[in-house]
Amino acid sequence: MNSAKSDKPCKPVTVASLARMKAEGEKIASLTAYDFSFARALDAAGMDFVLVGDSLGMVMQGRATTLPVTMDEIIYHSRCVAPALRRALLMVDMPFMSHVTADDALRNAGRLMKEGGAQIVKLEGTGAQAEVVRRLAQAGVPVCAHLGLRPQAVHKMGGYRVQGRDEAAAGIMLEDARQLEEAGADLLLLECVPAELAARISGQARVPVIGIGAGPHCDGQILVLQDMLGLTPGHVPKFSRNFMPDADSIPGALAAYVAAVKSGRFPAPEHCF
Ligand code: KIV
Repeated sequence: MNSAKSDKPCKPVTVASLARMKAEGEKIASLTAYDFSFARALDAAGMDFVLVGDSLGMVMQGRATTLPVTMDEIIYHSRCVAPALRRALLMVDMPFMSHVTADDALRNAGRLMKEGGAQIVKLEGTGAQAEVVRRLAQAGVPVCAHLGLRPQAVHKMGGYRVQGRDEAAAGIMLEDARQLEEAGADLLLLECVPAELAARISGQARVPVIGIGAGPHCDGQILVLQDMLGLTPGHVPKFSRNFMPDADSIPGALAAYVAAVKSGRFPAPEHCF
């Protein structure tokens, strides 16, 4: 699909290439995007995958949480991003309550791929979602399982807090990650997890592990675009870094981010838990 959009030949990133990058120790760089222009800039900067995240509820729509984002809204943004990507893989979030049962997940993941152009879907879940992941994998849907801080569960978790701090919680997350991988997840994503636990999960997993606030030992990194461009008003998460002050332009900041992730300079100790 990506090659059809290309002006000049360019090898598209696939789930298999991300796995190869883990095997070869090459760090995976990723950001969120919600529209054509930024997606094109991210692709040109060398992002390996681009996430149409349900963070769009907050950064695009000004809502307090990601919970109100609908299937139609995320498909709209995915359709804006998809035509911009020549190389990067397109990952799209499954909204809150869109994957409670395997039948819901199959129907909605199908829409993200058929209508939105998604090449891999991301869902927030624990080991309890393993059966859903298994059914998606059996149907040929690539899946990224999002563990640790799950913003869709903010009311259940009692806030946006670091997860897996004590040994019992760490053990549960290690087991959840194992079950989701065994069910067929192609990627794991860890949000707000102590660096040491993220290192254990990345070491145990055969699939790539992407971190956001999960330290430098993950196989790749992702940030919310608006955070790394310094556009987020008020509280900016400790794990993020504004790349604009040291850059001469937005493309310069995106390229600096890719270089910092690939070289292991980001995240630095001050971004870790
Ligand atoms: O929705 C989103 O932007 C995400 C990232 C925080 C990984 O899930």
